[in-house]
Amino acid sequence: PHDARIRALLKRMTVEEKLGQLQQLPWTWDTGPGGGETKEIEDAARAGRLGSVLSILGAEATNALQRIAVEESRLGIPLLFGLDVIHGFWTTFPIPLAQAASFDPEVSALDAEVSAREARSNGVHWTFAPMMDVTHEPRWGRIAEGNGEDPYLTAEFAAAKVRGYQGESLRAKDRVAACAKHFVGYGGAEGGRDYNTVDVSESRLRNHYLPPFKAALDAGAATVMASFNTVSGIPAHGNTHTLTQILKREWKFGGVVVSDWTGVQELIPHGFAEDGADAARLTLNAGVDMEMTSTHLVDHGAKLLAQGAISRARLDEAVTRILRLKFTLGLFEKPYVDESEAVDEPSAKARAAARETGARSMVLLKNEDGALPLSTSVGSIAVVGPFADSADLLGTWVIPKAQERFPAGKILDAVRKAAPKAKVTHARGTDPEGEDTGGIAAAVAAAKAAEVTVVVVGEPAAMSGEAAARSDITLPGAQEKLIEAVAATGRPYVVVLVNGRPLVLGDWLAKAPAVLEAWHPGVEAGNAVADVLFGKVNPGGKLPVTFPRSAGQIPVYYNHENTGRPYDPENKYTSKYLDLAHGPRFPFGHGLSYTRFEVGAPRLGADRISAAALRGGRTVEVTVSVRNTGKRAGDEVVQLYVHDLAASLAQPVRRLRGFRRVTLEAGERTTVRFALGAEDLGFWTNSPEGEFLVEPGTIDVYAGASSATEQKRTLRIT
Ligand code: IFM
Repeated sequence: PHDARIRALLKRMTVEEKLGQLQQLPWTWDTGPGGGETKEIEDAARAGRLGSVLSILGAEATNALQRIAVEESRLGIPLLFGLDVIHGFWTTFPIPLAQAASFDPEVSALDAEVSAREARSNGVHWTFAPMMDVTHEPRWGRIAEGNGEDPYLTAEFAAAKVRGYQGESLRAKDRVAACAKHFVGYGGAEGGRDYNTVDVSESRLRNHYLPPFKAALDAGAATVMASFNTVSGIPAHGNTHTLTQILKREWKFGGVVVSDWTGVQELIPHGFAEDGADAARLTLNAGVDMEMTSTHLVDHGAKLLAQGAISRARLDEAVTRILRLKFTLGLFEKPYVDESEAVDEPSAKARAAARETGARSMVLLKNEDGALPLSTSVGSIAVVGPFADSADLLGTWVIPKAQERFPAGKILDAVRKAAPKAKVTHARGTDPEGEDTGGIAAAVAAAKAAEVTVVVVGEPAAMSGEAAARSDITLPGAQEKLIEAVAATGRPYVVVLVNGRPLVLGDWLAKAPAVLEAWHPGVEAGNAVADVLFGKVNPGGKLPVTFPRSAGQIPVYYNHENTGRPYDPENKYTSKYLDLAHGPRFPFGHGLSYTRFEVGAPRLGADRISAAALRGGRTVEVTVSVRNTGKRAGDEVVQLYVHDLAASLAQPVRRLRGFRRVTLEAGERTTVRFALGAEDLGFWTNSPEGEFLVEPGTIDVYAGASSATEQKRTLRIT
């Protein structure tokens, strides 16, 4: 609908102004223009040499900068303001990995809606989220920002988050444009070291890394961000196959592709571009439309155009995409936000949403003899550990001002509130990272004197997120020693984990009566943890990622191929480690409840169907019954997996194809229905052109309460 206006503008634009639209520069958070530090950016806006600014927020600051672009530049084209609103603006929600553990995409939709309202009212048009990088690497710090190891689960969450951010219309004053990132394969970083090499087959790319992006774009994601890694030797920022062939041609993506930070510049150290001009040529020709932070396109674009190294058509196409987004956001009509409407703090409703989603994302890893929930009428509780009295529970990617103004509620305070009659004592025990400097003795004394001890251990937020890879993913410092020392008292205790990735849980795990995985739960961390500890909320989350037994076992993931010599304890010459028990510590999809559930075997609506019928859109119905056989209400996640036993491309032993989180009263039963179609049963081949096959053969259909389920029925595709 905006094409005529865009064409008219393009006609009036100089080459410099066009290149200017492709430039995004980083601001200094919530400061307005005029302070001196941002003079270059203000000058660029005034001269029409700037399309977008990132890391700016605040109604006044954004309006003031926008005024320069709209009122002082020759053509008055408004700027686009982007920000990393990853799991909250003022209201910090649980980290995305935790959200995935809810197995309820509405959790992410809610985060996105609240974040969009808060951000847009503060002048932000565009968030660099959701991140949808599937990964098998718990050492990789950015696992915290994604939805774990499964493409299907990630796709469902990515789509929900895009809908939450964007709503029905990007013109709305409570919506922001989403960014599907990082395109593509970033989660495959070798060894989990950030920014590292990714060598990936076409089939792995299409079956594993691309589905969340397709889902996000089908949900309407307005933009895509290129990733820092190479994709089979070609950096993603210079990758014509992924950016143009797949994204823009095959998928017909009409939005903006933005680079990641200095991703264009980094084509040089990657060993792909010779210099800045070469980097500009390669990235524009490959399909990047906007350059973040580095300035090679504006610096060299005119010369490249004159030389014929880039075309006017491609330049105009990139500008068109950017202008179209600005029109879609309504910026030409309404470039400013109403300063009186800027949301200045989390509302009570937003806080309630953060608390509810925080608790909904927690996973009960272990619970022996009903160690949890704790009784609120207990006489005394010791709350120990480095994260018990800590506000470092927001996780990675929090807006600095939100961190300062709205820190996470502490677990110690929330326990005091939840059990007002109990004598609650505290000892830190250890630093989060350091060795025991004598604190463990105080924690032991507190544990000895209390009826029950809550040990809160984990990772500081700075240990996950960007550039935060760890080679050893056990609890840092002396925290394991602390748990062992509390265990040695012989007194009752439970362990709460607060972390941004799957951890290797040491020998202490075997002894611990109960372990609650709380992740980094966000601004309402304390209350959310207390809600689960005391049974106000019955935990129902499931692991969106495998927990390994040791770092040496990585990668270990549920949807692996079988090998020609699958594990056999009786046969040495099978795929295993000599010095490690087989299988993960906790499998994908694992999570307990304070009640018990019986999930039935899958029942198939038909036990055979033709490949042609599937391709024509027919599906096979799968029903699974689930019953709460315990004594209290609770949530179970019914999970559906498939395994294609023999195909022209070896298939994973399990592939998640459906999940449903249900709430059941004690004794209640329900039936969950799924439909398996071509998309669920077929696969992408290694053809670079994109070939999707649905082959005749035998499919094992599994249903259960985790990926380890053995309950199956057989479906034949004829
Ligand atoms: O959006 C991020 C990206 O995920 C990592 N590099 C910086 C970008 C902008 O802050």
